[in-house]
Amino acid sequence: MGSSSPRPRLVPKLSALLALGLACLFLAGCKMSGPQSTIVVDGPVARSQLNLFYVTLAVTTFIFVTVGGALAYAQFRFREKKGEAAGDPPAQTHGHPMVEIGLIVVSTLLLVIIAVPTVKGIAYMEDTPDRENALVVKVTGYQWWFKFEYPELGIVTANEMVIPTNRPIHLELRTVDVIHSFWVPKLAGKKDLMPNRANHMWLQADKADYYWAQCAEFCGESHANMKFRVVSLEPAAFAEWEQRQRGEARTIEAATAAATAEQPRFAPFEQPRVQRALYSPVSDDGIAGAESPFAYWQEMQVTPAPGTEDAALVAQGRRLFLEKTCLGCHSIRGHNAMGISGPDLTHFGSRTTIASAMMDNTADNLRVWLQHPNDVKPGNLMWRDGYVPNKITISDEEAAALVAYLHSLK
Ligand code: CUA
Repeated sequence: MGSSSPRPRLVPKLSALLALGLACLFLAGCKMSGPQSTIVVDGPVARSQLNLFYVTLAVTTFIFVTVGGALAYAQFRFREKKGEAAGDPPAQTHGHPMVEIGLIVVSTLLLVIIAVPTVKGIAYMEDTPDRENALVVKVTGYQWWFKFEYPELGIVTANEMVIPTNRPIHLELRTVDVIHSFWVPKLAGKKDLMPNRANHMWLQADKADYYWAQCAEFCGESHANMKFRVVSLEPAAFAEWEQRQRGEARTIEAATAAATAEQPRFAPFEQPRVQRALYSPVSDDGIAGAESPFAYWQEMQVTPAPGTEDAALVAQGRRLFLEKTCLGCHSIRGHNAMGISGPDLTHFGSRTTIASAMMDNTADNLRVWLQHPNDVKPGNLMWRDGYVPNKITISDEEAAALVAYLHSLK
């Protein structure tokens, strides 16, 4: 046994080295700058949280290296040596007051190193700087979408929060049902939206961009589908957006009046198939032919040139929106729809996403969402409290008309 024992011992060492090498390769391939990165950040709150992460990482790395090093040293130093009788324990000791006190002091010190910036970070996130100049946005969580209200501007929108750059945004966080959590990884988070309690936080964006965001607290069966977007704009561009959003819903005027009398014409299309691929999330590389998600957002703000829309189809869609009782839950300002339990759709056509940022706002995706809402977002209220009790079905032709109408709402 004596001469053959070192060989098998090499195997676990080699496999450990191999695993470490593979882990390094894997980590080297990880993209730290993905759309929900907390490492590559674009705002002061996220930056303070990133710094706190680095402090914690440094402390825990120190603990790992020290404890792991001591363990490795002990294993090497006190291993069974050649020629030693097997089974004999090394000399035993018990207790060492200085070592024990030292460990307590060092552990406490390490915890203090983490605790001080943590408490400071919490206070920083709570305390909106330059409060008079900050833009107030009321964020309300619903199962499963976010409402964004701008009380000073008279704007209400859903699932896409638009903010000016380099200006503090004071967020008032509330929920109408269960606990949700507000998280824009590259800008700030997370903070819970609590029932019967008003929370607040702030964030700020350094530059104009398009950000992915997500509810970060389990809130029911479609929690994972409760996403949203934040779009930051230079102040001048934000002022333009504000002007457009303040207005009532767009109406395709003269053409509509003449066209409503006509038989509606329906564009042929294939029966929608509910496939994951149909509503895969917007990719990092841009969607719908746009060069980036931000460019896509800008494209969505453009009002179609006169005559490019099918006015008859839009008019038919507007009628269907009332007939199918969509107006019971959704508001479209200027179009006699004043429901409040669902997202405000006044400027729906200018949003890049639908179904709380589960899908790009394309005609194909919107058809799928309108015809099969429960297949897209299980448990949603549109299905549970709308379609099911009211026995609402939407045919292919009706879906085409509704899509044309909703997309006309720039
Ligand atoms: Cu809302 Cu999870």
